[in-house]
Amino acid sequence: MCGIVGYVGGQSALDVVVAGLKRLEYRGYDSAGVAVLADGGLAAGKKAGKLVNLEKELVGRPLPAGGTGIGHTRWATHGGPTDTNAHPHLDNAGRVAVVHNGIIENFAALRDELAERGHELVSETDTEVVAHLLAESFSSCGDLAESMRLVCRRLDGAFTLVAVHADEPDVVVGARRNSPLVVGVGEGEAFLASDVAAFIAHTRSAIELGQDQVVELRRDESGGKGGGSAGVSVSVTDFHGAPGKARSYHIDWDSSAAEKGGYDYFMLKEIAEQPKAVADTLLGRIDGAGSLRLDEVRIPDSVLREVDKIVVVACGTAFHAGMIAKLAIEHWTRIPCETELASEFRYRDPILDSRTLVIAISQSGETMDTLMALRHAREQGAKVLAVCNTNGSTIPRESDAVLYTHAGPEVAVASTKAFLTQLVACYLVALYLAQVRGAKWGDEVRGVVRELSEISGEVERVLETMEPVRELARSLADKNTVLFLGRHVGYPVALEGALKLKELAYMHAEGFAAGELKHGPIALIEHDVPVVVVVPSPRGRSVLHEKIVSNIQEIRARGARTIVIAEEGDESVVPYADHLIWIPATPTLLQPLVSTVPLQVFACELATARGNEVDQPRNLAKSVTVE
Ligand code: F6R
Repeated sequence: MCGIVGYVGGQSALDVVVAGLKRLEYRGYDSAGVAVLADGGLAAGKKAGKLVNLEKELVGRPLPAGGTGIGHTRWATHGGPTDTNAHPHLDNAGRVAVVHNGIIENFAALRDELAERGHELVSETDTEVVAHLLAESFSSCGDLAESMRLVCRRLDGAFTLVAVHADEPDVVVGARRNSPLVVGVGEGEAFLASDVAAFIAHTRSAIELGQDQVVELRRDESGGKGGGSAGVSVSVTDFHGAPGKARSYHIDWDSSAAEKGGYDYFMLKEIAEQPKAVADTLLGRIDGAGSLRLDEVRIPDSVLREVDKIVVVACGTAFHAGMIAKLAIEHWTRIPCETELASEFRYRDPILDSRTLVIAISQSGETMDTLMALRHAREQGAKVLAVCNTNGSTIPRESDAVLYTHAGPEVAVASTKAFLTQLVACYLVALYLAQVRGAKWGDEVRGVVRELSEISGEVERVLETMEPVRELARSLADKNTVLFLGRHVGYPVALEGALKLKELAYMHAEGFAAGELKHGPIALIEHDVPVVVVVPSPRGRSVLHEKIVSNIQEIRARGARTIVIAEEGDESVVPYADHLIWIPATPTLLQPLVSTVPLQVFACELATARGNEVDQPRNLAKSVTVE
């Protein structure tokens, strides 16, 4: 949720940290703060609101220049977004500063204990106790990394912590449990951050920390032990001081991929990147003969052949991808599949065993609900396959195998290109399962594989025809409600269209299975209510198509303004559509790859017309690392 940056090196720590925070602002943006070590002391600044408020504050009250510093953008959990609750938090002497992502569950008991020993805590946060505990430990051991280990052993909950102490001006210490933290290793400098985006402008060399580890970045003359560059050493231990294993890796994301590249918003850029993201996710995974090659899926074929049940777990947009995955998996493999909200999964005592395959879908790879669901699944003996966009993140690390989506960094809070690539990855998994289980590769599947390998061109074509959709969105800016209807794969697409509109335009938006209309929701239809209807292809499943055409007539008869998304050439819907959005013909199961795109554009434009923040909608964070 929150964004964290730490830096030790030859550059101005303040500049590096603030630039890193800009890259992480999508993680939390209700307050921001920094601390730097300089001239034997510690100087900090923090401010409620967006990072720009902090930047203004720092212009009025500059901090001294120094090469060691930390920073934070906050997404509030304990205590509202105020200057006092913003991070960093300091001890009473102002010698220690700490930033935190996560929730410290036993903070109330620790705060009472500290108060009894005379500490004065000023904020409502759970984080502040850590600054005071670190100060106490440091006064007895004189070593910040050791103090961090001692303190972490006392904390319950999920946390990433990064701290500095004025008495160790060349040191930044970090710790992680169930919350992300990566190390960047540059020439004579090193970084800590919740996401590599914070430092890819400086280095592509990263170290992935494991669970319950403490890392110390120390500027010294001797150079790196344990993977550090000359001038800065990087040491990793567990919470008890035993040397810890950490994996070094190369970041292949291009730093320009995290820039807006001429677009007004990251979301617009990410929508436009979808054809490439889709093509990249398919790259090398379908061979010339139309067979699937998923070498990274390290679950042996013999195990996949024995799978008798599949459960897809995910949240939000990724859950919608999972709903479509279920339809594809059952249709192509005939293995029973259910899709479940990750946040509900482990609380309902699901039936799982060694023949169950759980597919955990997550863009960030850090979503706590999904992580907890996969841990529960593995405890019950199920195999877990992650579909993830973030290399080295927790969810793939804790899974039996991973199929990476290649969407590149997704910065806008509302997911777009990640969704399309999740769909592609799920289709690949479904087809691969069918292949290893010896399904008869009939004409239908052969056609799907062929069309899938060419689908990015169709996504491109949709993007080229979006101006009328933008115009329509602007004309609806003063509406209070938009409803979305779909059937089969169109139902999750309707849910996704409604989710995009809620989170971006802050409007009442709901998606329904069109067949459910008559069981209640039709009562919502009144004069001029916009209803978006996602129409399946008239080819193939024509009964489904006929049914939805009837649904359009039913709502139109009751006054709805119908916005119909239909396959090019589907003349049957023309008489009932107040607005028509044409999409290219695709096999039924692949249609979401083209039908979702207009809904993303629609929501983005409507949000802009209503004057909303597109990339950082209110109350939301990109990576939800609390349950
Ligand atoms: C909506 C959105 C969220 C995420 C959800 C899961 O636009 O982005 O609903 O899809 O929070 O996030 P990941 O995929 O990172 O697990």
